Amino acid sequence: MPEEAIRTQGLTKRFRNIVAVDHLDLTVFKGEIFGLVGPDGAGKTTTIRMLASIMVPTEGKAFVGGYDVVAQAEEVKKIIGYMPQHFALYGDLSVLENLNFFADLFEVPRRERQERIERLLHFARLREFRSRRAAHLSGGMQKKLALACALIHHPQVLLLDEPTTGVDPVSRREFWDLITELHLQGTTILISTPYMDEAERCSRVGLMYRGKLIICDEPARVKAMVQGELLEVRPSDMQKARQVLSGAEGVLEVQTYGDLLHIFVDDAVRRLEEVRRVLEAGGIKVYGIRKTRPKMEDAFISLIGRMGERI
Ligand SMILES: Nc1ncnc2c1ncn2[C@@H]1O[C@H](COP(=O)(O)OP(=O)(O)OP(=O)(O)O)[C@@H](O)[C@H]1O
Ligand SMILES: [Mg+2]
Repeated sequence: MPEEAIRTQGLTKRFRNIVAVDHLDLTVFKGEIFGLVGPDGAGKTTTIRMLASIMVPTEGKAFVGGYDVVAQAEEVKKIIGYMPQHFALYGDLSVLENLNFFADLFEVPRRERQERIERLLHFARLREFRSRRAAHLSGGMQKKLALACALIHHPQVLLLDEPTTGVDPVSRREFWDLITELHLQGTTILISTPYMDEAERCSRVGLMYRGKLIICDEPARVKAMVQGELLEVRPSDMQKARQVLSGAEGVLEVQTYGDLLHIFVDDAVRRLEEVRRVLEAGGIKVYGIRKTRPKMEDAFISLIGRMGERI
């Protein structure tokens, strides 16, 4: 059995009449990159805050590195690096001053400080920017600085709450290169993200919905849970196309995907022309139709849809 880095048992947080986290049982093993995904308000941030020992659970237990997040909060804080969703750097301070500030906060010994900061500047590709005020860095560089600050005390477990939201694709990739580097060094990483391509890069993903973990598995296996094969169609009228297709033979599920429809069918090759015919017979123009592979996003929408029917 691999060793556990994070374990929650019936972890629950209520705010008045909202159950933000609902009896969550989650285990993250040492060395994993675990992706927490889910729609807005699913309870990701609340979960991460409890794991970071900055929010007290209403019910249930959580352990990080074997420490109880309530009874041993100080121990937990020493071994985690936490990057909150709305990370606030000190805009008026330079890159170097920000790193020094966090070194103070985490009581990094003076004699080790310079070497660690140099290493982190190098790691985050921020060496040339050490004197620049944080407020004057690009969004992507600010995130990298925030990550470097969260790493100042060599944490065993990293809790990253949507660290790449709102960052351009190139910076997102660079940020993930850093995460991969940390992963290779053995750091355990729990990351929440709204980006499905990022979920694919995790060793396991957990889908949170209404405070519950509804799926928790390897990315490939999550995708394999989707029933059927996928057709992607660009119709002239989305609403009407959905109506016409619901109940059509071989159609399992229809999802809206921007200006495309994703149609799950029992057999894509067999149904492709049939779907086109059904749409055209309904007075809908088909600007494009092709067979495609389900992505993580399709899987999650489908799985949430199925959950919704049960709730
Ligand atoms: N301090 C609070 N007081 C009251 N309700 C809260 C508080 N924090 C969170 N909530 C509620 O708890 C639920 C879960 O919120 P949470 O921020 O954990 O979700 P999330 O998955 O991180 O969402 P997002 O993707 O928008 O960041 C939401 O309904 C939210 O409104
Ligand atoms: Mg959040």
